[in-house]
Amino acid sequence: MKAAAKAHTNIALIKYWGKRDEPLILPMNSSLSLTLDGFYTATSVDFRNDLSTDHFYLNEQFVTGAEKNRVTAFLDRIRAAAGKPDAFAEIHSTNHVPTAAGFASSASGFAALAAAAAKAIGLSADEQQLSILTRQGSGSACRSVYGGFVEWEKGTLSDGSDSYAVPVASANYWDIRVAAVILSSAEKKILSREGMRRTVDTSAYYPAWVDSIPNDLAAIKEGIAAKDIEKVGEIAEANCLRMHATTLAANPPFSYWQSTTVSIMQTVQDLRATGVPAFFTIDAGPNVKVLYTPEHEEKVRNMLQNITGVHDVKVSKPGEGVSYI
Ligand code: PMV
Repeated sequence: MKAAAKAHTNIALIKYWGKRDEPLILPMNSSLSLTLDGFYTATSVDFRNDLSTDHFYLNEQFVTGAEKNRVTAFLDRIRAAAGKPDAFAEIHSTNHVPTAAGFASSASGFAALAAAAAKAIGLSADEQQLSILTRQGSGSACRSVYGGFVEWEKGTLSDGSDSYAVPVASANYWDIRVAAVILSSAEKKILSREGMRRTVDTSAYYPAWVDSIPNDLAAIKEGIAAKDIEKVGEIAEANCLRMHATTLAANPPFSYWQSTTVSIMQTVQDLRATGVPAFFTIDAGPNVKVLYTPEHEEKVRNMLQNITGVHDVKVSKPGEGVSYI
């Protein structure tokens, strides 16, 4: 009863921001992401008869407390689905996602864990079922089941059976780049869970955010179909700014940005004014991701690396979906 799987992180171009159901992790809005080849998690799960509890190792370290409890709570769902409530596992997970990169390693982490655990326990789950399972570990993780451009359809049912990711275009469809710009010092952030809750509950701009999503989604899919970097980038950048605007209108207001975040945004817009099609997006943290086409690699990298307060720049290509190892 042993299996291992690998999954990559993803960056949302149309953000998931706000839940309509917290325990099941059902989103208020559909979202769209690009899976990245540069950052991934590899996880093995071994269900063993001699265990009476789960044992979780992250990067070779034995883990206890909240992090372990989140893994066990997720495996409880897998055990329930497989009808094996007493099957406990030894889990080894290795994150190839620098925490400082500001990517939720929970996305690659839960996608790899769901795939390995389902296979190890003998639960036959196709990719759609795997995406539904993964979603219940971490929302954005459900998109990491697939490679390339991926849409997470929010669904309408209260049991979550129609809330899952669907592939839009495969990893080798379009050769584009995402630079993760890592800041020298990242302050402790408001977790996405808390940020979403506060925004949904109190932000006067939140309804406008939800209303804006169908148009953004339709337009960005046209842009992807046409391999139009200007269109895809403009929509992604505007969608990111609209998401962050909802946090400024929350009560109490908050922002994920630091001064370096704003410097990077301005540098990208200045670069664009010189004719280089580069566009930014930002998740629930201060780091910035920059989208561009490979012929502009050198210029974009140089500009980003020279900004005061930037620690490192890590470039990714589109990545593949979950695989078994
Ligand atoms: O799935 P979570 O809880 O890590 O939330 C992700 C939220 C954003 O990264 C801000 C947007 C997204 O769609 O990934």
